[in-house]
Amino acid sequence: MAMRKGATARGDRRDSGVAMRVSVMASLVVAAASAAPQTIRPKEAWPDDRGRHVQAHGGGIIRIADTYYWFGEDRSQGLDPNLRYVSCYASKDLARWTFRNQVIKQSDPEGFGRRWVLERPKVFHNAKTGKYVMYMHIDDGRYALARVGVATCDTVDGDYRYLKSFRPLGQESRDIGQFIDDDGSAYLIFEDRPAKGFHIARLSDDYLTVEKDVCLIREPLEGGALVHYQGLYYAIGSALTGWNPNPNKYATASSLEGPWSQFKDVAPPQTNTYGSQSTMMVKVVGTKATTVIFMGDVWRPRTQWDSRYLWMPLQIGDGNPSTGSGGTLWLPEPKEWTLDIETGLAVIQGGQQAPPAQPNN
Ligand code: GAL
Repeated sequence: MAMRKGATARGDRRDSGVAMRVSVMASLVVAAASAAPQTIRPKEAWPDDRGRHVQAHGGGIIRIADTYYWFGEDRSQGLDPNLRYVSCYASKDLARWTFRNQVIKQSDPEGFGRRWVLERPKVFHNAKTGKYVMYMHIDDGRYALARVGVATCDTVDGDYRYLKSFRPLGQESRDIGQFIDDDGSAYLIFEDRPAKGFHIARLSDDYLTVEKDVCLIREPLEGGALVHYQGLYYAIGSALTGWNPNPNKYATASSLEGPWSQFKDVAPPQTNTYGSQSTMMVKVVGTKATTVIFMGDVWRPRTQWDSRYLWMPLQIGDGNPSTGSGGTLWLPEPKEWTLDIETGLAVIQGGQQAPPAQPNN
């Protein structure tokens, strides 16, 4: 319709056959393009549907039906410096992202001070209440408050309402992560500086508070991320080096309570995780394979709006010690790759398929 606007009636009639054929062909091309897996380019600018670099730093991803929603810090240039912003994007294939809304446009809610901090937002969907519940790292400009904030919304990409902030289980909390187990239970991961570790803590029934400390992993790591894969839990974290990258590490356990294994490098340590810091792992269970994606932030502290994302499919063991690959996790060198959201197969440029096809988990 939009293309026909402004055409003359005569021109319209003459062109209608051609227009029809063109539009049928165009929709075939669009259909073919959307069926073909789209390329993901780690560390490059990631244009959304408007052609603007995705602003979802320190982000989190949830899936609702067949749609993924990516929430993160919106650090676009030109925003009101008194407000803090979280943006939400939607995708069906984890590669093409449509901007939905600035779901948080928040002024200092509790007198935290001019340089107050809102970072690493994570949204959970509570099936019982129907609410979408956002957790975020809330702090003052010196990172001394170490709290989580909670905001809720009735729709996934509506305007979220800030409710409160607190220290989860009374503990200091800086970087946060989210984990939803296969049985649907929701966990907040939070870094606890005095305890020199990070917690895996279960949310209350309504998700509005943090109820139970499931495990304190005593390793000084932030950017905590978890995945359950082939019967093993994998935890990834980033050392406490501020905005600078470092060798991220992982450990495994057969239950969230632990015991957790020793931590090992996820990539050659001299690469500092290829310049990134862990944020989340997302598991894509397809008809042919299960792919676990490492999602990292490549922070650019002086030009935050241009901070990049490093997403790569992990090479991850099958949890079976008898095959020799049980419990291993490796972040391949970043290269362009594609993900087929239906089959779950990830193909890294150069023909390497990662991970090696595994039975579904
Ligand atoms: C990073 C962390 C960011 C932010 C920053 C502040 O390690 O990933 O979310 O908190 O430290 O220095």
